[in-house]
Amino acid sequence: MKNFHITSPIQETTSSSSEYSSSGREGLINQLCDHLNSRFGISPNQQMASKLNRIFIDMELVEIHRRVIELTSLSTNHPSWLELVAKLTVHETYFFRDEPQLGMLRDNLLPTLIDQAAGKASPHLRILSAGCSSGEEVYSIAMLVLDAMLEAGYAYGNELSGVSLMPGWQLEILGVDVSADALQLARNACYTKEGLGSFRNMSLQWQRWFDDIDSTSNESSQIYRRPKDFIRRITRFEQHNLLQTGIRFGLFDLVLCRNTMIYFNDKNKRIAQNHLFDVLNASGIVLLGATDPLLCPDRCERYRSRGVAYYSQNRSNLSGVTTKTA
Ligand SMILES: C[S@@+](CC[C@H](N)C(=O)[O-])C[C@H]1O[C@@H](n2cnc3c(N)ncnc32)[C@H](O)[C@@H]1O
Repeated sequence: MKNFHITSPIQETTSSSSEYSSSGREGLINQLCDHLNSRFGISPNQQMASKLNRIFIDMELVEIHRRVIELTSLSTNHPSWLELVAKLTVHETYFFRDEPQLGMLRDNLLPTLIDQAAGKASPHLRILSAGCSSGEEVYSIAMLVLDAMLEAGYAYGNELSGVSLMPGWQLEILGVDVSADALQLARNACYTKEGLGSFRNMSLQWQRWFDDIDSTSNESSQIYRRPKDFIRRITRFEQHNLLQTGIRFGLFDLVLCRNTMIYFNDKNKRIAQNHLFDVLNASGIVLLGATDPLLCPDRCERYRSRGVAYYSQNRSNLSGVTTKTA
């Protein structure tokens, strides 16, 4: 690792650790940082160092040494690595995050993607949420797509009775994340109404797409909201590291990867973004977070609609929707 040294605030306390100097502890944590960077794209910084120091705070140096040796010998997909990454990364997310982007998606891009899908012999739409955290993004997109399909006449029903796709249609929204804990929350899909939390940005119109669940324990009673069954049925969640190819998941018509590469250095951003375009259909769309830079311009065409950027592998299929920017 270059240009970064963790300064551990922790002093060694036991004689069994005497064979290691305090720089030994720092050296071991730096070693872990190197692996976190190359395996998961997590760039070392002071916040990361503090989190690692907190994780190891109760361990003697000899134990940290054992853990580091063990971890570095394990494959990147091993649960121990994934668990550590989950502890180090931020899982902040909420329903309908970035309203301007999702509004543009709903009104401009989804009708086009749905029309394209309708033209296929067996109409289907596949959507990927890369770095889905606890699932709010996946369920928001599911609701937007179902709403757009109702409007286009390829689905019937309503949010109260349930929305069904017209015969022959298939719709799948896959959420992937490196964190097993976040994925468990996503699959469980029970979101507390307390405070602002997951619903801080959700307009009232979407409330009817949720069931209220009253969870009473010995001490307290809490109301949760859960996306209705017909929404959850079209979603799926898998553990996946974005620095590895996702080609096993097949191709997608829409790929969202928002606010997920915040720790990645440019090299790793480029690797992860190339993986996104590897799983994008020829006429598909990629949406990044508002502040995420695109680092693989050779892979795509860049467009802008209503002030929102999006990326396509194939310009001609979307001509007429918006104007391409320089
Ligand atoms: C801040 S959340 C963003 C969630 C959602 N996309 C949104 O915009 O609200 C970032 C998520 O990226 C996940 N993540 C970080 N590094 C990852 C990696 N290498 N592979 C897969 N997911 C990763 C984290 O576990 C976390 O859940």
